[in-house]
Amino acid sequence: MLNKHSLSIPTIALHWITGLAFIGVFALGLYMGELTPETGKFQIMGIHKSLGALILIVALIRIVWRLKEGSIPPASPVAVWQDKLAKAIHGILMLATIAMPISGLAMSVGGGRGADIFGWQFIAEGDKIVWLQELGGSIHGLSVNIIIAALVLHIAGAIKHQLVEKDGTISRMLGRAS
Ligand code: HEM
Ligand code: HEM
Repeated sequence: MLNKHSLSIPTIALHWITGLAFIGVFALGLYMGELTPETGKFQIMGIHKSLGALILIVALIRIVWRLKEGSIPPASPVAVWQDKLAKAIHGILMLATIAMPISGLAMSVGGGRGADIFGWQFIAEGDKIVWLQELGGSIHGLSVNIIIAALVLHIAGAIKHQLVEKDGTISRMLGRAS
């Protein structure tokens, strides 16, 4: 049931599975940029791509769940603008969990490499589709700074609510009573 004091188990489980995996895959993506083929760039890229594709599946389930359940209420009364900002950031983050894998897949498929999850090829290799590769690459790369800003605001807002306003925002997302 949706109320101020508790969140449903699917909401909590889907938030942490997608959120923590997203942060991990995001960090791997940035780390890949520092690597060369000699220092394992392509092995890390393979893990990045496989985990990224898996995130797409969980993220789609999460969006269906959110549409079914409706948006979660704030843990304590907040100004209208704050509620709107928090919800806009949730929307950006949720969009990012599908836009990043889809644009990554577009880059890979457009590059003629198809797509696989830890060796299981679910899109076959094929001809290069340059526009698809370029579009995917642009979305994947240009989203990075927007996502960092949204994540900083999201996490800082959650910590402020938990520690300053003491309204149990993070405890509630951990399934604990405030
Ligand atoms: C350590 C990092 C994180 C913390 C501490 C955190 C904390 C929270 C908290 C406390 C809420 C509930 C907000 C409320 O009560 O109004 C929430 C909701 C949400 N978070 Fe996070 N979050 C983190 C990472 C992420 C990441 C990486 C994403 C997505 C990429 C994400 C996406 C969302 C979304 C979409 C919601 C809205 C509720 C839902 O639909 O599940 N969070 N987060
Ligand atoms: C939630 C999923 C994903 C996230 C958060 C993510 C994030 C990132 C980030 C932050 C970078 C570094 C970008 C930069 O430094 O400008 C990156 C690079 C890359 N990602 Fe992803 N990614 C995801 C999924 C995927 C998927 C599914 C694929 C392909 C199947 C993929 C393929 C790539 C490739 C090929 C690069 C290197 C791009 C280049 O040549 O610079 N990513 N990703």
